[in-house]
Amino acid sequence: MEHNAELIEKAAELIKNSKYAIGFTGAGVSVESGIPPFRGENGLWNTTDPSLLSLSRFYRDPAKAWKDIKKIFYDFFGQAKPNAAHKALAQLEQKGIIKGVITQNIDNLHQEAGSTNVIEFHGTCSNMVCIKCGKKYRSKDVDLNNLPPTCKCGGVLKPDFVFFEEGIPEDAMNESQKMMQKTDLIIIIGTTGEVMPAAYLPHTAHRNGAKIIEINPHPSTFTNSITDIYLPMKAGEAMTAIMKNF
Ligand code: APR
Repeated sequence: MEHNAELIEKAAELIKNSKYAIGFTGAGVSVESGIPPFRGENGLWNTTDPSLLSLSRFYRDPAKAWKDIKKIFYDFFGQAKPNAAHKALAQLEQKGIIKGVITQNIDNLHQEAGSTNVIEFHGTCSNMVCIKCGKKYRSKDVDLNNLPPTCKCGGVLKPDFVFFEEGIPEDAMNESQKMMQKTDLIIIIGTTGEVMPAAYLPHTAHRNGAKIIEINPHPSTFTNSITDIYLPMKAGEAMTAIMKNF
């Protein structure tokens, strides 16, 4: 634990001296909010076939896909609340110390914690889009008792998050790449770094000279390649300790 205290100090110093720090988060930042990760211990993909979220499967049988999607992403995830890590990132943004968060998560917890500059690289559960006419709806206004939910035009609604076989939202990609040119410090929290193109982003920043702090109880693809300070801790625990310096 002593070693972690020194690492926390060093991480806080890096954050204090940064000019354009950003957060880069994955499923691990929401585990302490009760949302399981996709991989590793209690990973969703250990018990659910990832093809549940493949675009071709959704189009082939939307009613069937929606049954699982509703159960996992709306009934279960829907109750989660931001944890200390989400709140710490929001506080650091309010203090002007971090400029924003790029998240792979679709749970809206960064925004609920108070972060305002959030790039949702994989979209969001909060909206749905008609696959026929493109009209967008707020998920909370959509009745999920009759599946699949449909648009006024009769088309099927799809959650507005990125399915496998689906591209990254263009504005999210463009905004993220702009941030990678400007950032001098990325705080990576809770991601295996196994899913592209999201995982390319920290490498781009690192090539541009950015420092990397990583918080994850287990090493990721970043840890032994680009991470400068690796905190082998849970997100809430590490960010709470870091915030003691601000
Ligand atoms: N605090 C911090 N990190 C944690 C915690 C915690 N309490 N618990 C688990 N982790 C770490 C795990 O060690 C793992 O490295 O969070 C990471 C979760 O990894 P994944 O489940 O692979 O999540 P992520 O990297 O965000 O996945 C990327 O894959 O399935 C797609 O679109 C989905 O956005 C997701 C993408």
